[in-house]
Amino acid sequence: MPILFEPTTIHHLPLKNRFVRSATWEGMAEEDGTCTPRLERLYAQLADGQVGLIISSHAYVTQEGQATPWQLGLYKDELVEPLRRLTTTVHDRNGAVMAQLAHAGCFTNQKLTGKPPLALSILDAKGEKWYREASTSDLDELPAQFARAATRAQRAGFDGIQLHAAHGYLLSQSLSPAFNQRSDRYGGSLQNRARLLLAVLSAVRQAVGRDYPVLAKVNCADFVDGGLEIDEALQVGRMLQDGGIDAIEVSGGTLVSGALSPIRQNITSEEKEGYFRQAASRFKEELSVPIMLVGGIRSLYLAEKLLADGVSDYFSMARPLIREPDLIKRWQAGDRRKSTCLSDNLCNQAARTGEGLYCVVEKKLSENKTSSKAKGTL
Ligand SMILES: Cc1cc2nc3c(=O)[nH]c(=O)nc-3n(C[C@H](O)[C@H](O)[C@H](O)COP(=O)(O)O)c2cc1C
Ligand code: SF4
Repeated sequence: MPILFEPTTIHHLPLKNRFVRSATWEGMAEEDGTCTPRLERLYAQLADGQVGLIISSHAYVTQEGQATPWQLGLYKDELVEPLRRLTTTVHDRNGAVMAQLAHAGCFTNQKLTGKPPLALSILDAKGEKWYREASTSDLDELPAQFARAATRAQRAGFDGIQLHAAHGYLLSQSLSPAFNQRSDRYGGSLQNRARLLLAVLSAVRQAVGRDYPVLAKVNCADFVDGGLEIDEALQVGRMLQDGGIDAIEVSGGTLVSGALSPIRQNITSEEKEGYFRQAASRFKEELSVPIMLVGGIRSLYLAEKLLADGVSDYFSMARPLIREPDLIKRWQAGDRRKSTCLSDNLCNQAARTGEGLYCVVEKKLSENKTSSKAKGTL
């Protein structure tokens, strides 16, 4: 029976356990996307905390694809050297780290890019004021842009890359009938909607070579009217597998999916944990590549059970590792209590003010402790 704390490999890459830090925007890069010593320190903490595989925040492959301020970039060669310091930091601690490559499409931030966001389709007349509908040749250029970014990630020493094709970003928009209502070769049938993602995979694979791990994060469903649903998502999974993907992380929802966003709140019971577990199980049944489940995993017990039940091969977490970067080490040492993350998403809001990502709950607790100490009440 597979166990959580056993070494495995993904496409020849050795991993010390089955826990993954899911891609998490930290808001700690320079304004132009350059990696910083602060990010190095955070990744050192995660590696020391025994995370099997760290996936970087989404890194924008072109300036036009930037989503958030202080986001990591991979759009120019000058970004490679500072990233090399980050990967070295992780490798010195015997860890593994991959870069997530992304373009935010219609969710790019015009204030940062100075350009109207690139949309697959303009969905109503009002949208014409805000968005630029991608021409066929704009989309034709994207695979080369992803491939160049992948080569930079490889030169920077990352152990692999993950294509961000989830959460309503560009590659996810192109798969989604809700966002993509095009009539050229990139729209219409699922084959056409998957064309961009498959072309990106093929270009990236050609650029990085056969032995380099290339993963994808995909939506099992968009949870928006007319969006991607599980049956088509499974077909996309099959296409990715046939195209040579090395593992698939199963997520769901978009930035406009309300309570069914990828980052759900109120995970107050075991039933609410691992909220894409049913979908992951379908992916596992139908595909042979390793599957990673993300979304609301909080208990070691549940991860063990889902592994034993064959629901997923890997367990990916974001917020629990913001709250406790050493959670995996704690579990491995025998302290099996569940993650202390409250899933209130306060960290996500706070990082937007420019302070960089931190656990707001943890900070309040330690401030209260300090003030109680000062008052002599502790
Ligand atoms: C602050 C924050 C930043 C995130 N940034 C990314 C990102 O860059 N790329 C991505 O694919 N998902 C991102 N996510 C989503 C997480 O990877 C994950 O899918 C989601 O938070 C659910 O997992 P969790 O319940 O373990 O937090 C982010 C989540 C949070 C809370
Ligand atoms: S702020 Fe809330 S959601 Fe974010 S890591 Fe802390 S407890 Fe978890």
